[in-house]
Amino acid sequence: MDRIQAICTLIPPCDVLVDVGCDHGLVSLYAIQNCAKEVIASDVSAGSLKKAQQLLEGYKNVSFVVSDGFDNVEREVDVAVISGMGGRKILEIISRLTYKPTLILGAQHNVYELRQYLVENGWNIEKDFCFFDRGKYYDFIRAVPGKSETPTHVHLSFGIYYKQKNEHLLSFLLDQKRKISGYKLTESNLQRLALIEEVLKWQV
Ligand SMILES: C[S@@+](CC[C@H](N)C(=O)[O-])C[C@H]1O[C@@H](n2cnc3c(N)ncnc32)[C@H](O)[C@@H]1O
Repeated sequence: MDRIQAICTLIPPCDVLVDVGCDHGLVSLYAIQNCAKEVIASDVSAGSLKKAQQLLEGYKNVSFVVSDGFDNVEREVDVAVISGMGGRKILEIISRLTYKPTLILGAQHNVYELRQYLVENGWNIEKDFCFFDRGKYYDFIRAVPGKSETPTHVHLSFGIYYKQKNEHLLSFLLDQKRKISGYKLTESNLQRLALIEEVLKWQV
């Protein structure tokens, strides 16, 4: 399974889905073939959107829009996929939403802040896992409107479901532990190592 297939496992059956930052259009293609009655492929870059237009040519019920986040997405959607961006960029995009669709998020960095924003702003994180593909680790999240349990520092750092066994999370932790152990053991590195050990208890 690759990164695109992994994030697509989170998409529920739905009427209208928007793929924000669709670029190549692979997520949109999966959605229209498998789980959405209608797809809006959107990207802030007209050049990127063109790639999706080419891939999805001939598909009925797929529309295309150049849009910064949801700015030009004129309909309310059931599901929004935002992947392949940093957590802060995703956070900035969702913080401008005026309603709450199901969110499928694929973040590369700053996932702590993203999780914190979601739980503090009326989202329930119902799926949250780490995934390794082609030399990089990603965090994939599905959030629905609702209330989350108050998360700890460990939940925000390594995922709400860090107690569930995940070989990708285990290799991430071992990788991080090895790197940090080679650095100077400052207070913050020691704190990070303690967090890693806490999660490793559940993963080995
Ligand atoms: C690395 S690609 C990710 C493509 C695809 N979503 C994926 O997961 O493979 C990031 C895409 O996000 C688009 N993008 C960046 N900022 C955006 C924004 N504010 N609104 C919409 N699209 C954005 C870029 O133009 C680019 O096509």
